[in-house]
Amino acid sequence: MLRRRIFWIALGLLLFGILAAACAPPGGAKKEASGELNLLCTPQVEWCEGMKAEFEKKYPNITVNFVRMSSGESLTRLRNEKDNPQFDIWWGGPVDGQIAAKQEGLLEQYKTPAQDKIINKKLMLDPDGYWVGVYVGSLGFATNKDWSEANGGWVPKSWDDLLDPKLKGQLMVAHPSSSGTSYTALCTLLQIKGEEDGWKFLKEYAGQVNQFTKSGSAPARFVGAGEAAVGIVFSHDIVKQIEDGMPLILSFPEEGTGYEIGGMGIIKGAKNLENAKLWYDWALQPETQELGPKYGAYQAPTVEGAKASKPELLKVKLIDYDFEWCGQHKKEFVDRFTNEIAGAENLKK
Ligand code: F6P
Repeated sequence: MLRRRIFWIALGLLLFGILAAACAPPGGAKKEASGELNLLCTPQVEWCEGMKAEFEKKYPNITVNFVRMSSGESLTRLRNEKDNPQFDIWWGGPVDGQIAAKQEGLLEQYKTPAQDKIINKKLMLDPDGYWVGVYVGSLGFATNKDWSEANGGWVPKSWDDLLDPKLKGQLMVAHPSSSGTSYTALCTLLQIKGEEDGWKFLKEYAGQVNQFTKSGSAPARFVGAGEAAVGIVFSHDIVKQIEDGMPLILSFPEEGTGYEIGGMGIIKGAKNLENAKLWYDWALQPETQELGPKYGAYQAPTVEGAKASKPELLKVKLIDYDFEWCGQHKKEFVDRFTNEIAGAENLKK
């Protein structure tokens, strides 16, 4: 009698379990993810807003709070908040920033199968699992069309052209202390010219600068508006301004240009660690990386299966940029630039 009762109870429990599993929503575990995610977002604000909206669509119970900050500013903020981190994940900005952050113990290790799709693991994936690449972009020159016409169609075609006397007070670039774009340019020049000549060159080129900006893409806007003749900006940001109607010409230095791998890393001590991992995995999906152009972002993807919207921007001569070297020396080089060449006061916003 007792045996039979146990049998029926066990059968009942089994049937209940099967029914419950069958009725659960697909991807049920993911649907239940909830709470907040505090995102430190370095790409252009339009893309940050778009990514927030797309992520919240996928995870309706998670609210993403983001702050857009340039790469150097982000690093400073993470350093200051080391003992009480306010962000959970840092998405975007040249990976030199994430490499410096790893070195300073600001990032959390995370290894995930989503990383298997990375197209060039040697370049785009930290072997220790502290950061991963999420996009790629090359540096270019933006020249104001009217200014170029008034100067016989001249546009810079080499780094040395930036020292041309006609560009005195007509060159615009961000400051490397705040901007990852500008730091990429600085480290590109140190690699192309060698350290000693590179620093000499940087001093001369800073003498041509009209005003340093805070964010890396800002010079494209100011040059488009005629406030300066030439800007050093990531080429995808120049294309974006051209598409928005700015009178700009994009050119590249023929001897080779620097490029960025946009990085991502989870913040050490993240208060919403599980949600940060969800974002991390999601940002490495091909469908996610193909969202860029919908939000005016033309960087190339880093995962297999995602198509580049403007592949021509990487079909230029690229230098063999040493991300580790640039990342590990970021603080030292930025301090040297700030102390010996140009201070970071009154940056143009
Ligand atoms: O505007 C987008 C972008 O150029 C990214 O490709 C890049 O990683 C980031 O901005 C750099 O911003 P900043 O130079 O302001 O640090």
